[in-house]
Amino acid sequence: MSQNFDRHRRLRSSAFMRDIVRENVLHTDDLIYPIFVKEGQESKTEVSSMPGVFQFSLHELEAEVTELTELGIKAIILFGLPDDKDAVGSGAYHQHGIVQEATRLVKKIVPEMIVVADTCLCEFTDHGHCGVVKNETVDNDESLQLLKKTAISQAEAGADIIAPSNMMDGFVKIIREGLDEAGYIDIPIMSYAVKYASAFYGPFRDAANSAPQFGDRKTYQMDPANRLEALREAKSDEREGADFLIVKPSLSYMDIIRDVRNQTNLPVVAYNVSGEYAMVKAASANGWIDEERIVLEMLTSMKRAGVSLIITYFAKDVATYLKEMRR
Ligand code: PBG
Repeated sequence: MSQNFDRHRRLRSSAFMRDIVRENVLHTDDLIYPIFVKEGQESKTEVSSMPGVFQFSLHELEAEVTELTELGIKAIILFGLPDDKDAVGSGAYHQHGIVQEATRLVKKIVPEMIVVADTCLCEFTDHGHCGVVKNETVDNDESLQLLKKTAISQAEAGADIIAPSNMMDGFVKIIREGLDEAGYIDIPIMSYAVKYASAFYGPFRDAANSAPQFGDRKTYQMDPANRLEALREAKSDEREGADFLIVKPSLSYMDIIRDVRNQTNLPVVAYNVSGEYAMVKAASANGWIDEERIVLEMLTSMKRAGVSLIITYFAKDVATYLKEMRR
């Protein structure tokens, strides 16, 4: 006797049935792995708030990149840790800056690896802000000139994608013009279009020694309470010539990812940030959660929310899980 209700369980009745109706699947090709590279010869050090994440010297990069290639990871994003910082972040746009040198090296070891260069000044300024400081505030238009120089020097070093994370107004426009004038018309911009002033970046600032020395980033990064503002940011960057739009952080911002997805035809990228990583690692170290299942569920949820790509410190772990599952 048939009942008068829907039988949703029909499509969940076996593992194969669930496999054939699954709507979103995570692939290793979806992942971008962040790497911290430091100047000097010191051997790699683990970031205390990010177990499994290291600051590498250049001479240790080859082994790491080789491992990534073996895992099938096709893209990395580089963050630089210079020995010396100054008020104008000159290490960010020096021809032999740490990101430029690391880019050259990676492209030599694995030419097909997609190297994304994070374009920001905060790791290179002595005050830790993402631009030039004037009268205790970050000067937008002067910062743009330095960010343009940074992007061009990263492209010169061989970066495949420029990813400006500084949240100055007009950064996509100025960087696009700079790249085009310098002949890099084919280098895409992956804009940190929607970047909130988030407490979830805490561990990253340990990893990159980039905490602001005074004040905070709230005059340039977004207020976590705002949703429409995210769409205005995304729209400006698309209009100015962005090729990808990043939403950051990701877990508390799935609504924003979906909003941006619905309003653009560009690929949307989630940044699964340091604090999101640290929370999972801490709970897992205590034996409170099943790390593998939690990580796969989180990243699959980002795909469901609408992203094409995920920047994540879990990339190696996920590539390993996916490899084992296929066996
Ligand atoms: C640089 C930058 C930050 C992150 C990526 N690029 C830090 C910040 O804005 O303070 C954070 C990434 C993370 O938390 O994993 N501006």
